[in-house]
Amino acid sequence: MTTPVYLDCDTGIDDSLALLYLLRSPSVVLRGIGTVSGNIDAATAARNTLDLVALAGHAVPVAVGEHDPRVGSYAGGAPHVHGNDGIGGTALPRAGEPEAESAAQMLVRLAAEHPGELEVLAVGPLTNLAAALDLDPELPSRVKRVVVMGGAAQTSGNVSAVSEANIHNDPEAAAAVVDAPWDVVLVPLDVTLENRFTEEDQSALLDSADPAARAVGAMLDQYFTFYQGVYGFRGCALHDPLAAAILVGEIEATRAPAVPVVVDATGGPGRGQTLCDLRHQRSGTADVPGAHVRVVLDTDRPLGPVLRARLVG
Ligand code: BDR
Ligand code: CA
Repeated sequence: MTTPVYLDCDTGIDDSLALLYLLRSPSVVLRGIGTVSGNIDAATAARNTLDLVALAGHAVPVAVGEHDPRVGSYAGGAPHVHGNDGIGGTALPRAGEPEAESAAQMLVRLAAEHPGELEVLAVGPLTNLAAALDLDPELPSRVKRVVVMGGAAQTSGNVSAVSEANIHNDPEAAAAVVDAPWDVVLVPLDVTLENRFTEEDQSALLDSADPAARAVGAMLDQYFTFYQGVYGFRGCALHDPLAAAILVGEIEATRAPAVPVVVDATGGPGRGQTLCDLRHQRSGTADVPGAHVRVVLDTDRPLGPVLRARLVG
């Protein structure tokens, strides 16, 4: 039995690692991919996604999603992190064209085709998911669970003091997604920053016989340079791949209490913060009754070697 998955992404260097990891994971099957503006604009993210999927020897429908967040306009992405093209200037052979439907329409359709089975992995701003909730208010009853890379529970943000990039880029959408009555697994910076790729991992990718593995290995130059400047080590955090590995089940969330979570969508200095109410955790790991958002605070083992093994083959 393979799990049908809809991926929503802003491809993106770590998005590319997550995408290739999912394509190489036999227990899941990507039924569709929607793109959103975040690291790069939604149309370029779709181009990057189509090209990498084809280079990996797969065919997955890709739909372009929302260009602008719910409030305001796309602010130009993160070229200092992911490069001007989102993939660190890595040339990929062009392949395929996006679907005619939007990402939100694709998600609604796939949920209707796989009622109670579809799992959603969101590793970019949550604009498409919020748009899908607008299109189909019954969507939460049809989706099995939503795994989101985003937020910061007990650590600082990476865009503002309190705000993580995916939430920061569309707090109104994130609030809508977290408030909707479906099971959400939030994979925040608290755990993603603890899982890393090193130069050794990059060398293994570059030495691979697999062209898609070599391509993501080449992208890491840009990402590693950013991390070296900001975090002081030549390597990178595995944000989006960790969320993917938790969805797949190769990494187990050993501490992930279900707690009330509120996204700050006000205009103050807390905008984009994920307020995770962990007060009850001081006396154990019990879930708060009625809470439907699990916040991942610990995992069973480091992702680096697991991801490398899948990608290098
Ligand atoms: C998240 O922001 C993006 O830059 C990454 O792709 C990841 O999804 C990390 O904060
Ligand atoms: Ca991303």
